[in-house]
Amino acid sequence: MRMYDLIIKKRDGGVHTPEEIKYIVEGYTNGNIPDYQMSAWLMAVYYKGMTNEETVELTQAMADSGDRLDLSAIEGVKVDKHSTGGVGDKTTFIVAPILAALGVPMAKMSGRGLGHTGGTIDKLESIEGFNVSIPTEEFIDNVNRIKLALVGQTGNLAPADKKIYALRDVTATVDSLPLIASSIMSKKLAAGADVIVLDVKCGSGAFMKTKEAARDLAKTMVDIGNAAGRKTYGVITDMDEPLGCKVGNALEVEESVEVLSIKDVDSALSAKSTINYGIKRLLKVALCLSSYMLMGAGKAKDYDEAYKFCKEVIESGKALDKMAEFVEAQGGNKDYIYNTDMLPKAKYIVPVHFEKEGYISCCRTSEVGMVSLILGGGRTTKESEIDLAVGIDIKKHVGDFVSPDEVFAYIHANSEDVIEEAKKRLLAAYDISEAAFPVEDVIKFVVE
Ligand code: URA
Repeated sequence: MRMYDLIIKKRDGGVHTPEEIKYIVEGYTNGNIPDYQMSAWLMAVYYKGMTNEETVELTQAMADSGDRLDLSAIEGVKVDKHSTGGVGDKTTFIVAPILAALGVPMAKMSGRGLGHTGGTIDKLESIEGFNVSIPTEEFIDNVNRIKLALVGQTGNLAPADKKIYALRDVTATVDSLPLIASSIMSKKLAAGADVIVLDVKCGSGAFMKTKEAARDLAKTMVDIGNAAGRKTYGVITDMDEPLGCKVGNALEVEESVEVLSIKDVDSALSAKSTINYGIKRLLKVALCLSSYMLMGAGKAKDYDEAYKFCKEVIESGKALDKMAEFVEAQGGNKDYIYNTDMLPKAKYIVPVHFEKEGYISCCRTSEVGMVSLILGGGRTTKESEIDLAVGIDIKKHVGDFVSPDEVFAYIHANSEDVIEEAKKRLLAAYDISEAAFPVEDVIKFVVE
């Protein structure tokens, strides 16, 4: 087999055999195929696409390129979730304790990553003492004992994806559906869970800008998961504004605790409730993801029953207690969960107002993410230090009426120098219209 011939085949719209895909992935990972040939092949895939069968083969080949996490020592059906990423997305902190409180094991690997805030593990490090590098034995033991453990991405999980993603990043080939789907799913398959729930974001703060594109991505990933024998669901959720009110690291932990502390879910979600609309959206997404995970684990006969169980563990406080137990099991101070005033706080908390009144009709969500980055909440390079205390607390959402007299948001900053720029960019990320604006549901649809 020659890479040159395989590039021609894909360039001309051909369909690869499983052997050809294995040859490409193994050859590139072990250095036998040079970057320039792999780049040409990736561009050919970008233009000509891949069949479902090719995408499944590519995913398996990437998942097989390194270690697979062995979760066989964990009792029960193991569940996992993955979000395609967005601004203010903190659902893991709500979903994981809900599932663990219901006795469903979750052995979670999460990343730090570059972006407008840190990753899941950075956010957890705003809790004093929390340790994300526990040894594998302790990780497995914690899952068996309290049903939940979370570690940073370790070892050699899907190294082919790591190398190919780095090349896609510099060759303008990230934005290809089969390449995105196989990249995400190769890591999920290698991470070993039996049930995978994918939160596929769509909108101005997501990879997929439209519902149709998000649905196609979800469908491809669900097909890959099911072909690999994992029960997989894809939930398409809105990212046309940040999820929840708070964007930051400690701020997102704080908001998750707020959701886990709700005592009556139905009234919190009712039209009459005075709970902020951002919290309602977050609660809805977290409950939907949890319910599919619980149903997938076989702990409920249908979605409605699963939803009821998930709701109950929030209302009884069991999910919040599970969060505290999880924090303590990984060396953290569990008092932070019961008293979020202990989390790192910014020096300056500055209100932001619009100059005119009207209805919020549009949010350029990635721009809100940029504000968090300007404040120091995220990383621009792997070496950057993140400020856990800073971020944004948005009080008004798409469809809401705003006026100069009402606070739209609070900027949490540790340096006076960045406040004016952050304010300006935050306001510029939104459009205001005179007419009322209809709001769509945060959950678009589900691919099963
Ligand atoms: N996230 C991934 O892990 N891979 C992609 O290709 C895109 C998003």
